[in-house]
Amino acid sequence: MRGVVSLLALDGTDQVSTVEATGRLLRDHPEAALWCLTRGAVSTAPDDPVEDPDQARLWGFAQSAAIEHPDRWGGVVDVPAGDVDWAAALAVVGGSEDQVAVRRGGVFARRIVSAPAATARDEWRPTGSTLITGGTGALGAHVARWLARLGAPHLLLLSRRGAAAPGAAALVAELRERGSRVTVATGDAGDRDTLAAALAGLPEEAPLTAVFHTAGVLDDGLIADLTAPATPPSTGRRPPPRGTCTS
Ligand SMILES: NC(=O)c1ccc[n+]([C@@H]2O[C@H](COP(=O)([O-])OP(=O)(O)OC[C@H]3O[C@@H](n4cnc5c(N)ncnc54)[C@H](OP(=O)(O)O)[C@@H]3O)[C@@H](O)[C@H]2O)c1
Repeated sequence: MRGVVSLLALDGTDQVSTVEATGRLLRDHPEAALWCLTRGAVSTAPDDPVEDPDQARLWGFAQSAAIEHPDRWGGVVDVPAGDVDWAAALAVVGGSEDQVAVRRGGVFARRIVSAPAATARDEWRPTGSTLITGGTGALGAHVARWLARLGAPHLLLLSRRGAAAPGAAALVAELRERGSRVTVATGDAGDRDTLAAALAGLPEEAPLTAVFHTAGVLDDGLIADLTAPATPPSTGRRPPPRGTCTS
């Protein structure tokens, strides 16, 4: 067997299968390269947005796979959410590009390009209340300090240990000194009632305007050793949440 093209991701429900299959292939078929097809996982232009954030995670996984197994990893090929030119998609497999999106307008390979530097006018300023899940942790504290420096009126830090977390009192004092009002809430960010209660307590004059998800539990490993429990879906099942994303 020279290689495998995985269609496991295409049903859009179960990205864990791809991770497991990759691990199995690496262990059991040391000669075979692996290519993965995704659908609507990447954006090629403003009018071609990401359709499926769950599948987008596989593009992150693909970068780790390419670094850990450069000799075995083939690449990822993204097809659009609508009509698919399967011949064009499969023609990419085995080629020299390892991150490709096939669209009606052509085949797009990933490139790094210079982005224009942000101007002062572009700088976002926090208003009202900002929720930081995992706000008493390492990343959460960095985000909170940055927000306070930007003049955040109210910060809501949520974690399971809340004010009892190591360093929480000092962090709150520091943020207040920088001029932000701070509330520390205790609870699981994956629990709907916890979140509802925390949000219900926000000051009327400071409604929720932004959320930073930094809550997470580090449980990493090499791809060949990963098993299903270490790779939960980003949506659907109840957390503990892993990884970070912002909105
Ligand atoms: N630090 C880095 O350089 C780095 C780099 C890349 C990725 N990450 C990832 O980013 C995430 C955060 O990293 P970190 O270094 O800030 O870790 P950390 O210092 O352990 O902080 C994690 C925070 O999340 C909270 N938390 C965990 N599960 C929670 C839940 N279910 N509900 C509410 N709060 C929860 C923890 O508090 P409680 O335990 O009290 O709930 C803690 O405040 C991790 O997933 C990590 O793998 C970190």
